[in-house]
Amino acid sequence: MNPAAASDPSTIGPLTLVEYPHPALLRRTRPVTRLDAGLREAVARMFDIMYESQGIGLAANQVALPYRLFVVNCAGRRGDGEEHVFINPMLSRPRGTAVQEEGCLSLPGVRMDVRRPQKIVVDAFSLEGEPIRMDLDGLLSRVVQHEFDHLEGRLFTDRLPEAAALEVRRDLDTFREVFFGRQSRGELPGNVAILAELDRLEAARC
Ligand code: CO
Repeated sequence: MNPAAASDPSTIGPLTLVEYPHPALLRRTRPVTRLDAGLREAVARMFDIMYESQGIGLAANQVALPYRLFVVNCAGRRGDGEEHVFINPMLSRPRGTAVQEEGCLSLPGVRMDVRRPQKIVVDAFSLEGEPIRMDLDGLLSRVVQHEFDHLEGRLFTDRLPEAAALEVRRDLDTFREVFFGRQSRGELPGNVAILAELDRLEAARC
């Protein structure tokens, strides 16, 4: 990195997947108002990370970016299926109900049945700034709703009925112990530094 890049307040550093309870996952993301080269690069890197992790969707705050956007490819493999980028998405017209098992790259190993509307309409912008409207059903509807929750600072474990929520509580406690342990050993920045970095990135593009 050259000194000019280092002093550019919009610089996005190397991206890595973050796990619960990283503060980026628990805070509502802000709409993007500036689609620049740095952001397009970050979106390309998000697809890389999603495929490497064998996911089918990834929200920006799962790589500690405080932006209202997520990427999806229901095939989960580069070159297969269709790649979608949803920027500043809004959901409407929920119809029907479906229960399906979900997992999350930010909660590896946890899988639970989640009840959601079966169909929804999503309005968003593409990476080129073009408006998108899609009426969704099936797996794409499920993934878009899961990723949208991330942007609101919610995880699928926030949507469980009481008995299932109790069951998952011990797993969440373990994730917290691991995360705070890594912070106390200096392997991860502390929450004050993490929040300051989120504020900096928001100021650059929101
Ligand atoms: Co997730």
